[in-house]
Amino acid sequence: MTHISMTVDGVRYDDDVEPRTLLVHHLRDKLGKIGTVVGCDTSNCGACTVLMGGNSVKSCTVLAVQASGMDITTVEGLAGRDGEMHPVQQAFHETHALQCGYCTPGMIMSAVDLLAENPDPTDAEIRDGLEGNLCRCTGYQNIVKAVREAGETMRTARHATPETASAHATRDEVTT
Ligand code: FES
Ligand code: FES
Repeated sequence: MTHISMTVDGVRYDDDVEPRTLLVHHLRDKLGKIGTVVGCDTSNCGACTVLMGGNSVKSCTVLAVQASGMDITTVEGLAGRDGEMHPVQQAFHETHALQCGYCTPGMIMSAVDLLAENPDPTDAEIRDGLEGNLCRCTGYQNIVKAVREAGETMRTARHATPETASAHATRDEVTT
């Protein structure tokens, strides 16, 4: 067993793990972060995507020991403390960017990373940025739309005054 320590969704965890344990299994089985899902055994689907040190990674391709000392964010850590959805979550909800929802946690985490790197992506850039995430329901049109709209919301919030920033944080208030 190897001792590891990592911060997940703002909480520090210390654990002893088998060196061969994958990060996705550690998150789900040990830490109860079942919002991060396993969709394949070939590292192709992206359903297991989380942020590690701010960068999206497929957590089935990382050993838990490799994530020791790192800051991990799962889809469960995106919402605000008051439960307000992250703009990307909100946009997926508003634009019906999911069908069965199995790919959604990974899609959202990849989209968060994409928008952090490129706040105003074209549709082609969104498709390019999400190419490691597969949707078996083939709902790509609305997924691209959701990421585009989340980008707009986040840019608007960034340019708003502090007093109005929270008012622009959700699509509802931006579009009505
Ligand atoms: S479960 Fe990680 S890529 Fe499919
Ligand atoms: S919504 Fe079903 S796999 Fe994407």
